[in-house]
Order: sequence, then C-alpha cells, then structure tokens
Amino acid sequence: MNFSEPTIERFDYVVFGGTGDLARRKLLPSLYRRDADGQLPDGSRIVGAARSAIDRGAYQALVEHSLQEFLGADSLDPASQRRFLDRLYFVSMDAAAERGWDKLSALLNEKSQPTRVFYLATAPELYGAIADNIHNNGLQTTNTRIVLEKPIGHDLTSARAINDRVGAVFSESNIFRIDHYLGKETVQNLLVLRFANALFEPVWQSNAIDHVQITVAETVGVEGRGGYYDHTGALRDMIQNHLLQLLCLVAMEPPSTLDRESVRDEKLKVLRALSPITLPEIATHTVRGQYRAGAVNGKPVPGYLEEKDIGSGSATETFVAVKVEIRNWRWAGVPFYLRSGKRLPDKVSEIVIQFKPVPYWIFPTGSDQAAPNRLVIRVQPNESIRLHLWTKEPGPGGLRLRNVPLNLSFAETFKNDLPDAYERLLMDVVRGNATLFMRRDEVETAWEWVDSILEAWDNSGERPRFYTAGTWGPSESVAMIVRDGRTWFDEPCSGNGAG
Ligand code: BG6
Repeated sequence: MNFSEPTIERFDYVVFGGTGDLARRKLLPSLYRRDADGQLPDGSRIVGAARSAIDRGAYQALVEHSLQEFLGADSLDPASQRRFLDRLYFVSMDAAAERGWDKLSALLNEKSQPTRVFYLATAPELYGAIADNIHNNGLQTTNTRIVLEKPIGHDLTSARAINDRVGAVFSESNIFRIDHYLGKETVQNLLVLRFANALFEPVWQSNAIDHVQITVAETVGVEGRGGYYDHTGALRDMIQNHLLQLLCLVAMEPPSTLDRESVRDEKLKVLRALSPITLPEIATHTVRGQYRAGAVNGKPVPGYLEEKDIGSGSATETFVAVKVEIRNWRWAGVPFYLRSGKRLPDKVSEIVIQFKPVPYWIFPTGSDQAAPNRLVIRVQPNESIRLHLWTKEPGPGGLRLRNVPLNLSFAETFKNDLPDAYERLLMDVVRGNATLFMRRDEVETAWEWVDSILEAWDNSGERPRFYTAGTWGPSESVAMIVRDGRTWFDEPCSGNGAG
C-alpha cells in the first residue's frame, strides 16, 4: 500500500551551525542521500552559516570530507556528489548578532524559491536571537519554516522563553521542533503496528500487559561534547525527548487521522497523564548514575570525570532509569521502565512489551514454565519486531515447550538500507508535514514532568551512583525493577528469549 506525499518544491535550506558536529555528521550527509535519490529539485540550494572565516570552496571541501567520513567513500556516487557540492553555499556570520546578515540576505534574495528553511543546529540559547534576526532582516517569505533542534531549553521556564520568542516571529505551523527518534523507521512503524493490525489493540492495555521497558543504550561516552553534556545530563538529553516520545507512541490512544494535530493531540494526553515524581518517590522511581573508567567492547575507556570539558567533581548523570506511571484507564497499574545511558555494553534501542502470564498453566512444569509472551521492538540496530511465543518442540516422547520468537527482521524482509532518521525529517520540513515533529505544548508538558524529577534530585542532595563503563548502569537500576518482581531484558536478541 502506498500513500503519496506532497511533492517537494525548490528550496533554500539554511543551516546555522553549518560547520558543527550535527551538520557534518547527520544533516549534510542526509541531504546528500536525498539528493542522490533524486529528491532535491533542480535549483535548490543549501547554505551553511557559521562563524568560521572560510569561503564557499573551503566549505565545499569540508562537506566533501564529511560525506566521505560519515557515509564512506565507497557509497558516494561521483556525479551525485558533484551535483550536491554545487548546491552548497557558505556565509560567514554571527547569527545571534549582526555580522553577516547582509550577506545572507543578498544570497537568499538572489533567487526566488518557493520554500525557505532555517535549520538551527546551534545552542538553544541562540534560538530567540536568530529568529529575531531572520525577522528583522525581512527573510520570511510565505513559505518559511524554522527547525529547532532539541533540547528546547534547559527546563520549563527556559523552554517557554524560547517558544515565546520564536513564536513571536513564526506561527506555530511553521515551527518544526525536531526529535530525530521520530524519524527512525521502527519508530514510525510503531504507528503502523498498533493501528493497522487489529490483533494488538484488544491486548494493548492493563488487563493483558504487565509492564513496558524502553531502553536506549549507547556505548559512546560524551564524544568531545563535554561542554554541552556536562550542563545537560542524560535526563535532559535523552529522557525528556527521545524516550518520552517513544513512550507516547506506545501509550497513546488511536488518533482519528494521521494529520499532525490528531497525532500530537494524542501524544499530549499521554504526557499530561504522567505521574509527577516527587521527593518521596525519588529513591524508588529513579536512579541516576555516572560512569567511571572501565572497558567497553574490550577497549579501556576513561571515566566521565576524566573526559574533556567536564567540571571537576561534576554531578551530571550519564545514566538514568525511571519508573513511570501513567494515570489513565488504559495504563493504570502498568509501569513503564525507561533507562538510558552512555558507556553501556551495547548500542541498542528497544521497546519491550511484557504481557501477563496465562491465568493457569496446564503444561508440565519446567524452569521457564511461566515466562509470558513478550513483544520486542528493536529500534536499532538490526531493526526488528519479535513476538516471543510458546510452542511445542517437535519430536516424540514427552511434551517439551520452547519459547521462540516470531521474527520480523527489517533487513531480511525488505532487503534495502534503512534511511537515516534525518533524511525523512529534513524532507518533511520542506513538504510542510509536521506530524513527526513536536508541538509547543508537548515539549513544555514533557519539561514540566522532567522538572519534577530535577527538583526532587536537587532537594535530595544525593550524587549520582557510580557505575563501571561497560556495565548496565548502577546496581540500583537492577534493584529498582527487581523490587517490583521484574527484571531488565538485557540480551534481547540472544538465546531463545525465554525468562
Ligand atoms: C542525541 C543526543 O539527541 O541522540 C546524544 O544528544 C545521543 O547524546 C544521540 O548520543 C543518540 O542518537 P542515536 O540516533 O545514535 O541513537
């Protein structure tokens, strides 16, 4: 089944922070891939804007190098690469001040493009000033959109201030708040799995589901982003956006259509139903950790406090586990356990829906006898959906049961490379499709809930617990879930999945 998308019209894409890590690692390679696929209309331009004093040629060379580094020289097609580099322009400017805006205006006004996009891959503190400058320089046409990278602010107050200031210049329908997790194939597939298959809806609630686990684990440390990370931490960097968005897609009611407001209305209802975590629950519902030196995949790595640009004795958390309760009819009594951390043993993002056991077990008893069904949605890598079911092991003699997964592996089924999440989202901005972007009220409601935890952590006066790099976080994370009679599902794709 195929749903057609609106056609893409010629555009100018301005990337503030155009020489930065995100632009080089993700945005420009993603635009290249869309271009190589024939999706960028002739005459579309990409304009890098940054403080560096380089010219267009040097920028093209820098981007060429980034394409090779992040996509691999072998995957680049010479003709596509030439066409893409020809689209690139560069303006050396100070986007939050005055320098360079005259040059950017002259470049943009040279050509009349149906769509203009400003992508702010900068620190969120600059969003307000950049939006004002776009406005004051008369750069908004009828079809001008602004893209804001997460995190939008640092807490609810700063998020509101940014939203107010950008909102004074751009209408909400032209503000695209990006969370790249929403562009991941398996995440979009959650909507299809839940709402295109009649099978799941009757069991998608507290009568049948025991609990849900959402894990986003990374093997990397702070990767040269110490300055940013040390003021952010895992709760703001990952839970406030990526994990809460995943939770929303698992927990939301069916939207009446796929249009942007219907989907976002339903996600918002989930966020509003999150039970705040206050000081008395902090010890039972949250765990924060910080890695110390250890080894990941056999390679020794330094501790967080030894990384570059980390404040001495910093109490920033690099690991968080939270037990989340949703106060509504569908999910009452079904905890959602979220965890995310850096320097864990695997890079894996996964959603586990753990069903309740059958009411009465009539089969011979064995060690795994009561392991209930489990649906495992592997967001990355090796994207797949696995439904663990009991089956009879073939053969004569006694009745032997085996817990085996029905495995829908995306690589095996579809045999094509999955696009990077940014490819989809960058093109959605040009199309004007905001379904996979966050609305102002979603972001602020998520902050409101996160603020309750931040405040309780502050008031508790405790530091994060240490964990050794290469382990699954502090032992308190295991204790948190074991106290409820459950365990983390740490080895999702190995063994037979029982247990
Ligand atoms: C970003 C965070 O939003 O997501 C990073 O700022 C994190 O700290 C990254 O590493 C993870 O994204 P992915 O797509 O690699 O899972």
